[in-house]
Formats: sequence, C-alpha cells, structure tokens
Amino acid sequence: MTSKQTLLRGRTLSFSAEPAGPEDTAAYHYVEDGAVLMQDGVIVASGDYTTVAAQAIQAHEIDHRPHLLMAGFIDTHIHFPQVQVIASWGAQLLDWLNSYTFPEETRFADPAHSAAMAARFYDLLLGHGTTTAVAYASVHKTSADAFFAEAQRRDMRMIGGKVMMDRNAPDALTDTPQSGYDDTQALIRDWHGKGRASYAITPRFAITSTPAQMEMAQVLVAENPDCYVQTHLSENHDEIAFTRALYPQARDYLDVYQSYGLLGSKALLGHAIHLTPREIDALAEAGAHPVFCPTSNLFLGSGLFDDAGLRGRGIVNAIATDVGAGTSYSMLQTLNEAYKVLQLQGQPLHPLRAFHWITRGNAVALGMHDKIGTLDAGTEADVVVLDARATPAMDLRMDRADSLSDELFILQMLGDDRAVAQVYVAGCASKGTQPDRSADAV
Ligand code: GUN
Ligand code: ZN
Repeated sequence: MTSKQTLLRGRTLSFSAEPAGPEDTAAYHYVEDGAVLMQDGVIVASGDYTTVAAQAIQAHEIDHRPHLLMAGFIDTHIHFPQVQVIASWGAQLLDWLNSYTFPEETRFADPAHSAAMAARFYDLLLGHGTTTAVAYASVHKTSADAFFAEAQRRDMRMIGGKVMMDRNAPDALTDTPQSGYDDTQALIRDWHGKGRASYAITPRFAITSTPAQMEMAQVLVAENPDCYVQTHLSENHDEIAFTRALYPQARDYLDVYQSYGLLGSKALLGHAIHLTPREIDALAEAGAHPVFCPTSNLFLGSGLFDDAGLRGRGIVNAIATDVGAGTSYSMLQTLNEAYKVLQLQGQPLHPLRAFHWITRGNAVALGMHDKIGTLDAGTEADVVVLDARATPAMDLRMDRADSLSDELFILQMLGDDRAVAQVYVAGCASKGTQPDRSADAV
C-alpha cells in the first residue's frame, strides 16, 4: 500500500545556517512561488512550485498562497503539568514553585487527569505552530506515560521525561533515589526511540534532588548516553544561594551537575542567567545548551539572558517558552520578548536569526537538524503555515512592509496563534483538531 502525496503551495522559507543578517542570503532559501511535497510523513521535495509539482504523482494539492510555509516551531523547555499554572500572580521563582506549581503538579498522579491534560497540551502546542517540544512531566510516571502516549497518537516528535525530585517539595510530589531511577529506566525502555519519541533524563534542579538522587541520575545518564538531560540552572539569586548551601562542596551551581556527570552535548539547561566565568567555560567545553526562556525570565523577574556573551564563547543557545512560568505557548511571542530582553543589553535580534532560532537553530541544539527544523527533502514533514495579516493590526502594518525581514518582524512582534493558519505534523493537517489519517492511504 502506498500513501498519497500532499503538495503544499505557498511562499517557502527554510534555513541552511544561522543568518548573520539580511544580506546573508546563503543561509536561507526563500521562494515566492514555492511548494513542499510530502509523503509518508516525510518531505519528498521543496522549492520552486513548478519544479516540485513536476515530481508530484497524483498529489492532493493545498494552496496556501499568500501565506508563508516554514518548518514547524520547536520549543526546547516547557512544563506539561503547568497548563493550569500559567498566569499565576505575584511571585518569584521559589515562592511561585511552592505556592502554585507544586500543588498543581500533585494532580498528575491521577492517570485520567494526566491523559486529559496531555490532549489539551498538544492542542495548544499545535494551535501555536509548535510541532516539537522538550517537556518536563510531573514526578509521577503516569504523567510521562500520558505525555508520550498522546504524542504517539498524534505522531509528533516529542522529547520529555518525568522529573526526579526527592526533597524540598510536598510528599505527594517526591520520589526516592531508587524509585526515580526505576521509573526513569522503565520510561526509557517503553518510550525512548519508539516512533518519534526521545527521553530526557530530568533531575528537576539541584534544590529538589539529594546527592543520592544525583548519583542515580549519573547512573541513568551513563547507562543511556543517547538520552537527553534536562534541568534548570542559575535562574534566580535565591535559588543559587539555596543550591550553594545544599551542595557546599560544589565550586558553583553548574558544578553540581558537572560533578555528577550530567553535563554533555545532550544537556539542556533552562535559564542559565547568572553564570560565573568558570560555569561559562564549562558549558562551552561540554557543548551543553543553555535554554533562553524570555517570557518566563521577565514574568518571574529572574533576569536577562546574555545571549551574545554565551554565543561569543561558541555556545549554542536554545530558546523556549517555559510555560507555565512562561506566559505564552507561542514561539512568536517568545521571540517578541526575546527581542526586548536582548535590546536591554544592546543585542538586537534580527528577524531572520530569530526565525532560524525557533526552527533549525533549536533543532541544531537538539542534534536533530537532519530530522526537523527545515524544509529539506528527507526530513520529517512538520510544517507551519503563517499568515502575517492575521489580525487587523498586523494587516495594517503589513501594508507598509516591503521585505521578507519586515514580514518576519511583524510576525515576531505581533503574531501569536492567530497567525498560524495551519500546521502539518508528519504530513497531516493538525491545527486545533485531531489528525485525520483516514484519507492517507490509497
Ligand atoms: N526550577 C525548578 N522547577 C522549575 C519550574 O517548574 N519552572 C521554572 N521556571 N523554574 C524551575
Ligand atoms: Zn522550567
């Protein structure tokens, strides 16, 4: 049985490298009358419409003109059990965790709640144009099972893991070094590498893991070197002080993770705002990835991420929403706030670099740019369709836009889920709906 081809027509934009600026045309490929041909969940061809259409065999053609087709967005740090925490008032990190987040996460012990929230979570991601995310589940194995099961049902490329936390949290939200290890091993066995799923070993942060649990995390990483590692680093001054008190022998915050063997090129370190020169050296040497979470950093008053400083050291930074401390599921709104955080530091973020970041750039940080993040033939057919005239304000502003960079910047500053006209996941239209696979086979 062969499956039907789908041919998307529209303006196409895809990156082959990080653009230095608008004149760096070698870094991206923009086609005015472009097309993406998809079959069996994969991009068969993309580029000029006439050339691509000539390769199509009885393809179902969908005309998205005048919209812009890009690779689906990638969110590299988000908390799945915080869908009902987003927009909780008035606290900085540690109080916010204790007052809002931890109580809410206890509800994910219930498999029915986890399953219901997973469905809503993916509806939200897709509605905002995000086709891949790296997510924290709650401490409960059942929440990670729900997270992966729903992703598998939708054929989404997702990365995630249950948080390991055995102290400084309510009893209903703690595991033990042994149960954290056992549950993580079982989840890796059941999900990692199955379909489009990857596992991230997830000690939540130094404050909520004892040294005994860090040792177990070290064993997990050593036993599963192709899994990701995700945690939080140097987000907030009180958090750093508490960490230093809990791990007095560590040279600094990062040294807690480094000394337990967690720091490598598959490590994603959320926030990484208040870093010492030694920590920056260690991140660069390990090839680890700080994750910039601008809406969250502003919301919790955490601080300003030094993108240029880290990049200057050869570090590849990822970018993410960090919902529920983050205030939007939209990677467009994340770029909006990123632009402002970087403006405050004299680091103007050009829209071409911004859109590279939330597509191929995040894929590079994940080591997945051969699979996602571009419209290249042979990669997975996750595509977002963007409408830069989606709202009256955007429409009016677009009347005065005269370049691709203008259009991208309007999307970045004014766009959100309303600008996402459609999303394709593994070649199937998905926006706001369950994927309909019934028409696939012929
Ligand atoms: N540090 C540890 N856990 C969390 C979390 O859930 N959100 C944020 N922003 N920081 C954290
Ligand atoms: Zn986080």
